[in-house]
Amino acid sequence: IPVDNFDLVIFGGTGDLARRKILPGLFRRYCAGQIPEDAQIIGAARSDEGDEGFRKLVGDAVREFGGGRHCEDGTLENFLERVKYVRVDAMGDDGWEELQGRLRLGVVKAFYFSVGPSLFGALAERLRSFGLADDDSRVVVEKPFGHDLETARALNATLAQHFKEEQIYRIDHYLGKETVQNLMAVRFGNMLFEPLWNSQYVDHIQITVAETVDVGGRGGYYDKSGAMRDMVQNHLMQLLCLIAMEPPARFEPDAVRDEKLKVIRALDPVDYHHIARGQYAADDDQPGYRVHVGDPRSKTESFVALKCHISNWRWAGTPFYLRTGKKLRGRGSEIAVVFKDAPHSIFGDEAGRHNNILAIRLQPDEGMTLGVTIKEPGPGGMRLIDVPLDMSFAEALGAEAEDVPDAYERLIMDVIRGNQTLFMRGDEVEAAWAWTDPIIEGWNRRGEVPKPYDAGSSGPEDALMLMHRDGRKWREIK
Ligand code: BG6
Repeated sequence: IPVDNFDLVIFGGTGDLARRKILPGLFRRYCAGQIPEDAQIIGAARSDEGDEGFRKLVGDAVREFGGGRHCEDGTLENFLERVKYVRVDAMGDDGWEELQGRLRLGVVKAFYFSVGPSLFGALAERLRSFGLADDDSRVVVEKPFGHDLETARALNATLAQHFKEEQIYRIDHYLGKETVQNLMAVRFGNMLFEPLWNSQYVDHIQITVAETVDVGGRGGYYDKSGAMRDMVQNHLMQLLCLIAMEPPARFEPDAVRDEKLKVIRALDPVDYHHIARGQYAADDDQPGYRVHVGDPRSKTESFVALKCHISNWRWAGTPFYLRTGKKLRGRGSEIAVVFKDAPHSIFGDEAGRHNNILAIRLQPDEGMTLGVTIKEPGPGGMRLIDVPLDMSFAEALGAEAEDVPDAYERLIMDVIRGNQTLFMRGDEVEAAWAWTDPIIEGWNRRGEVPKPYDAGSSGPEDALMLMHRDGRKWREIK
C-alpha cells in the first residue's frame, strides 16, 4: 500500500548512513510500490553535487548496498527521477531559500537529520526560520542521542524549542528489525507464552548482540563512546524493554512507549561486580583495538556483559544478562528466554533434564527456536533429549533471507505514515541514560581498564565468570 505523497529532505544526504541504509532502503520501498510516483527525495549537504551528481551517488549506493535484484530494468532510473539535491549550509544562510522553494504544499514533509548531534539545533532553527517546516512536519534524528543524561536532556530541550514531541522521530534501528517487531507479535498474539512470562517460570533471560567486525573507520567516535554507550544504552535496552514490558492496552505509540519506560525505570542500579568489560587485543596478524582507535592507552570497552534486575512484580528475582561486543567469534544476535526446570522429574535424574529455551534470533537468519524435551528415539529406555522446534521467518514467509525488509525501510515508511510506535520518546532516552551513566561514571572513578580478549573469542574470561558464579552459562556464539 503506497504511503501518502511526501517530500523527504535528508541532511547529510551524501554521508555514510545515507549511502548504506537510507537511500537503498528508499529504493527497495520504491520497488515494492510503496513510494508514490511523485514523491521527492532531496539530498542536502555542504558539497556541490547538483541534482545529477547526487543521482549518481544514489545510483551507486543502491547498486552497492541495495540488493535490488527484484527490480525490473528501468526502475532505478525512474526512482532517480524522484531524487534531487540542494547545497545547504547548516550553520549559515546559504541554500535554505532554494530548499524551501523545492518543497511542495499539501504533502507530508519529513526532515532526516543524518548528521552529528551538534548540528541538530542549527538545522531545527533554520527549518523554522526559513519557513520549511510547519506544525505537521516531521524530523528524524539518529543516534547517538546525547553522550549522557545531561547532553540528551539538552538535545531534547533544543528540539523541543522548535518541534512538538509528536513531530520528533528518534531512530533506534533495532526497533525496525523484523524480528524485534515479531517479538511483540509472539508475546501478545499468542496465548501460549504470556502466562509463563514471569519470574515464576523464567529462570533468566539472555540478550546477546555479537559482532565480528572491529571498530572500522569509526575509531574516533567509538573511542569516546564504547560498547556501553554505542550499544547497551540504546539497542540492548530497547530489546530488554520489549521482552520485559507489560502488555500495552493497544499497539499505539504512547501505549507501547509508556510500558517500555516503566521497565527502564524499574531497573535496579547495576552492582559493579556484575559487569564484565573487555577490549579486543591484537593477534598475530591483526592489530587490536588500541591500534584501530590510535590510542595506545585507551580505556574504552569494545565488549560489555552485565547482569541486571527489574524490580517489579513480574520480574523480581529473574536476572537479565546482557552482552555485546565487537571482534567476537560470530555475528549473532538473539534473545533467549530460559525457563525453569520442571519441578520434579518423573523419569529420574538419570534420564537427563533439560529446561526449555525460547531463542529469538535477530540476525542472521531471523527466526525463533523453542527447545522441547522429548524421549530419545529407539528402544534404549527412557532417556530425554532436547530438540529444537525451529522457525525461520524468511522460510515461513516463503522468501529469501535478503528479502526480509531492512530496519530502515520500515522506519522511514513509518515516519511518512506518522506512526511513532517504533521510535524512542524523549523521556525513554533520558531514562536509559540515567541508568547507564552511573555505570560509566563508576568505571571512570575507579580508573578501570577493560580486560583484553582475543579476537574471534566470546569475550573476556570475566564475562564467563559472571554466569558461572550463578551456576548458569551463556549460549554459544556461533
Ligand atoms: C550501530 C552501532 O548503532 O549498530 C554500531 O553504532 C553497530 O557500532 C551497529 O555495529 C550494529 O547494527 P546491526 O544492525 O548491524 O546489528
